[in-house]
Amino acid sequence: MAPLPSISFSKSVSSDASTLVLFLDSANACGPAATGVLAGVSGGIGRALATSSFTGKAGSLLEILAPSGLTASRLLLVGIGEAGELDAKAALKLGGQVYGKLKDFKVASASILFEAATGELAPELAAEFALGLRLRAYDWDKYKTKKKDETITLADVEIVATNAGKAKKVWAEALAVAEGVELARNLVNESPNHLGPQDFASEAGKLEKLGVDVEVLSEKDMKKLGMGSLLAVGQGSARPPRLVIMRWNGAKDSVQPVAFIGKGVVFDSGGISIKPAANMEDMKGDMAGAAAVVGLMKALAGRKAKVNAIGVIGLVENLPDGNSYRPGDILTSMSGQTIEIVNTDAEGRLVLADALWYTQDRFKPQFMVNLATLTGAITVALGNQIAGLFSNDDALAGKLAETGDVTGERLWRMPLSAEFDKAIDSRFADMKNSGGRLGGASTAAQFLKRFVNDTPWAHLDIAGTAMGSVDTDINRSWGSGFGVRLLDRLVRDHYES
Ligand code: BES
Ligand code: MN
Ligand code: ZN
Repeated sequence: MAPLPSISFSKSVSSDASTLVLFLDSANACGPAATGVLAGVSGGIGRALATSSFTGKAGSLLEILAPSGLTASRLLLVGIGEAGELDAKAALKLGGQVYGKLKDFKVASASILFEAATGELAPELAAEFALGLRLRAYDWDKYKTKKKDETITLADVEIVATNAGKAKKVWAEALAVAEGVELARNLVNESPNHLGPQDFASEAGKLEKLGVDVEVLSEKDMKKLGMGSLLAVGQGSARPPRLVIMRWNGAKDSVQPVAFIGKGVVFDSGGISIKPAANMEDMKGDMAGAAAVVGLMKALAGRKAKVNAIGVIGLVENLPDGNSYRPGDILTSMSGQTIEIVNTDAEGRLVLADALWYTQDRFKPQFMVNLATLTGAITVALGNQIAGLFSNDDALAGKLAETGDVTGERLWRMPLSAEFDKAIDSRFADMKNSGGRLGGASTAAQFLKRFVNDTPWAHLDIAGTAMGSVDTDINRSWGSGFGVRLLDRLVRDHYES
């Protein structure tokens, strides 16, 4: 992994950074510290500003080389838009944009004067800015034996703010979240030969160092529990399935837990209903739901969230083999409900069926949120920037959608309804595992709903957003870590004591 910049906070420019970053608003006004710096530039920067297309609008950037009268060899002017409009989402984005520019500069260090013309900016904004910067810096190059020619990488970033002390404290929490997102991205980016169900379970096991209880159920344990649905999917792989249960107890024992469940198909070939060859390699990312759950648990434990949280991930590999499950098979799930297999490529719902049932049965959570790269249909409907949200509970769905707007991990509510439910009725069993092409994302969600009992539940279909997504200001890697910041924020805003 390429080195990440170390981020520090101070009250005044303490290092002799060669690059100074100054904020200007849409009126080209800047704060007191930046005014002080600019006063030292002989001749001022008026001519540079007049010559450039810099406007001060959010994300507008202007580089001034070798400003005479200053020891710094570069100034980077950053537009922050209307004073007062810099909210958490904008600060996050700005952090990513500034990192992108500084990276191109090939400088080792930079000092960022984090202030507006009106003066102090909230410490939460400084932390969010730092988070955006750090997430943009993430680069998955584990298997590149010839590293990119980067003799100088940005190693030290100093954020200068009058309330640096408070900002540093808020950043410590945001850093825990960054590490959770990075873990999720690492898992999604990892190649499937290096990350089977057991390897994945061991990665989750590492959270014990942070105080998370981690239990790993073997095939035998799951047989005893009657998880015939999940187990069938893994039958064709030489690498046996695992179910991992993570528990973070940050609140009193009497507080009912919240629960997060992830689809962890480490590779989805489709099985006997095999997928076409084109882009099948992308199916290494079919465990992005599980990766987000592990990343989330890391974030919650890392910042010692005052919540009792359960993470459950079903880890399997879907391959064709003499032992594979087949179309026509009828499985008995842990819930006792029977499932006729009509397509072995509709495997994620089979994994989640047992994981969801197990979670509500054992933990009686306040709610369950599952994340899954469940259907191609959701990518057709919503593209790769918005995830599908399905829920049996309007209050939970409302909180999730609202939180997504705050973190920029957008969700769009999709329908559940009786017609979609009917589409998965089976002639031979209680249900079949696919309702066909029409309404594919909704019929899949409807299938999951049959395994949540009366628990308030939401399903996030992240097939479009978790991987292969377009470059954004805060992510340039294939795996996005979608869901970690969202659910961390959901917990923070609504479920911490
Ligand atoms: N893992 C896939 C869904 C997927 C597709 C994720 C593209 C990411 C990108 C899932 O297991 C699957 O194969 N779904 C089928 C369901 C169908 C057989 C009913 C699909 O969407 O085609
Ligand atoms: Mn599949
Ligand atoms: Zn799948």
